[in-house]
Amino acid sequence: MTTTLESLGLQNFSCQLDADNVAWLSIDCVDSSVNRLSAEVLDEFSQALDYFERNPPAGLIIRSTKDAGFIAGANIDEFAELDTPEKGIALVSRGWTLFNRLAKVPYPTLALIRGHCLGGGLEMALACRYRLVVDQPDTSLSLPEVMLGIFPGWGGMRRLPALIGAPAALDMMLSGRPQDARKAAKLGLADGLVAPRLMDQAAKMQVLSQKPLRKAPGLGGWMNHPLARPLVAKQTLKKLNARDPYQHYLAPRAILEIWAKHNGNALKAPELVDQLIRSDTARNLLRVFHLQERLKAFGKKGRKQPAAQHVHVIGAGVMGGDIAAWCALKGLTVTLQDQDRSRIAVAQGRANALFARKKKDPREARAAADRLIPDLNGNGLRHADVVIEAITENADIKRSLYAQIEPLLKPGAVLATNTSSLSLEELCTGLRAPQRLIGIHFFNPVAKMPLVEVVETATIDPDVKAATYAFVGQIGKLPLPVQSTPGFLVNAVLAPYMLEAMRCVDEGLAPETIDAAMLEFGMPMGPIELIDTVGLDIARDAGSQLSGDANTPACLETHLANNELGRKSGQGFYQWKNNKPVKQSAGAIPVGLAQRLITPLINKTQEQLDRNIVADQDLADAGVIFGTGFAPFTGGPLHYKACNAGLPA
Ligand code: NAI
Repeated sequence: MTTTLESLGLQNFSCQLDADNVAWLSIDCVDSSVNRLSAEVLDEFSQALDYFERNPPAGLIIRSTKDAGFIAGANIDEFAELDTPEKGIALVSRGWTLFNRLAKVPYPTLALIRGHCLGGGLEMALACRYRLVVDQPDTSLSLPEVMLGIFPGWGGMRRLPALIGAPAALDMMLSGRPQDARKAAKLGLADGLVAPRLMDQAAKMQVLSQKPLRKAPGLGGWMNHPLARPLVAKQTLKKLNARDPYQHYLAPRAILEIWAKHNGNALKAPELVDQLIRSDTARNLLRVFHLQERLKAFGKKGRKQPAAQHVHVIGAGVMGGDIAAWCALKGLTVTLQDQDRSRIAVAQGRANALFARKKKDPREARAAADRLIPDLNGNGLRHADVVIEAITENADIKRSLYAQIEPLLKPGAVLATNTSSLSLEELCTGLRAPQRLIGIHFFNPVAKMPLVEVVETATIDPDVKAATYAFVGQIGKLPLPVQSTPGFLVNAVLAPYMLEAMRCVDEGLAPETIDAAMLEFGMPMGPIELIDTVGLDIARDAGSQLSGDANTPACLETHLANNELGRKSGQGFYQWKNNKPVKQSAGAIPVGLAQRLITPLINKTQEQLDRNIVADQDLADAGVIFGTGFAPFTGGPLHYKACNAGLPA
């Protein structure tokens, strides 16, 4: 192969021309572990196209030489600089024009996609004549812009519907959901699926033969017709309104409108572009993205450790059973111990349902089930890299268990407790090596909640800490470092919020009205429904312990006296049918109700920060967003407070 393009002095691309005059353009962004399409990178790509215009190759193959993947999207840090409408339009126009140019070049073009291919990266690939995806587990294609409150304005909104049909494309663009390699090939998003060792050969054959491989989008393609688009848009809008009745998120509606009215060309709707790009929502969602990356980084830090292979979970109840299932789902060998055989069996049943839901391939679901081993006698304990204790919340029982198991642990194994309220200092007293006990506090339901609080004390062994963070990252959860104190961060902030909601019930407000006020604010679930979901008995115990208020609300006393425990007993503040609360109309929401309810939560977040339970404001906001679902578009409780200073409390 000969090297071309050197005369241009490109920093982020290199290019080889092979004997058949096929140009292999490799993207490898400098000073970054991933490829991002910054203004500079796009400018270099444009220079490469200029070069190929003067020296047309027989075909152009675009690939990445980064281990991380193909392209991770635009450089989102540039969004923070868009302080005028003109700058926003210029950013959209830059990619739109360049990728239109790529789509029109006379020689065949192919994107060879291995690993992640996100946002602007997928839009670049969509502008190529062909796409091949490499069949490996981390290959993933998506247009996630909607999650940042913006839109795929570099041609994605036009080319994706044309390629795979409107319904599938709208689903991808409005949810931001990724497609793996197989699904991408099946959808027609890629022209073919290739094994890693054959990828170069396959790419070259495809680009030279120029054979059309993919199937036409069929009926979904017809739905792009200008006459069909308004009808599809109307139906889709109904679904969006049902999902987001209070219209907190403008981006999905804007994407739909730009597709329906302008065939995906955002430049035809400049006011909408400006409204979105410079909105508080987009800025806050960008903040949430960075917060998430920060939490993920804790999980990556400990990666120098060898990955955990085997987890032993003691306690197969609500939490232990689901923690074991989650770890097996994520590829670890798991032994699950309980003193009661029937609890293990019930946990296995729930685990099998999870595997069937999450693994579309039944063979993979079976493999996950095989990794989850019932272990009544605790034989797995000696082999485990991580031991998670999730037994009854009682310090004496936990301590006596630790005394039995400590001599059996493998050297270097992590001993973790899932306690939600007991202090680690108190729990570790009987251990010979108290510095090996750490908290890994999962949330219920384990499979749905992204956050895990890693509970630290001053005396924990640094190796145990590193191994714990690595383990939490390995199982795909977001670790939040917290100090050992009752309620840590998340439960501590929820307790006064739930208490305030019950005080409102005592004052005569309907649960429906209270819940509606918080849904309107942007919470994923109202506080009364949340109390019913966690259980009124648990809410009482946590509330009296964490809120510092000894007076149990009268409404809670009454329900408990009637043995109405919430969802699990079929009746709490609501009656529950098919796992759903039966709700009456919410009626008018009193002015200031949401502020009244959210203020105790915000104040408690500030208090936990002031007490150094979390290290800084960003981590406090991250913990409350990912641990409670606190309205992400506000940027988190403390950010919200800072932006709304002066609002009536
Ligand atoms: P659970 O009552 O559902 O399960 C506890 C299990 O431990 C039972 O199956 C019991 O048979 C078993 N067990 C008790 N002593 C044992 C022993 N010595 N050896 C082996 N098995 C034993 O309790 P749940 O709700 O799962 O809670 C477990 C832990 O997780 C507690 O520390 C709790 O504070 C914590 N937690 C609970 C959450 C929840 O929402 N339920 C959320 C986060 C943490």
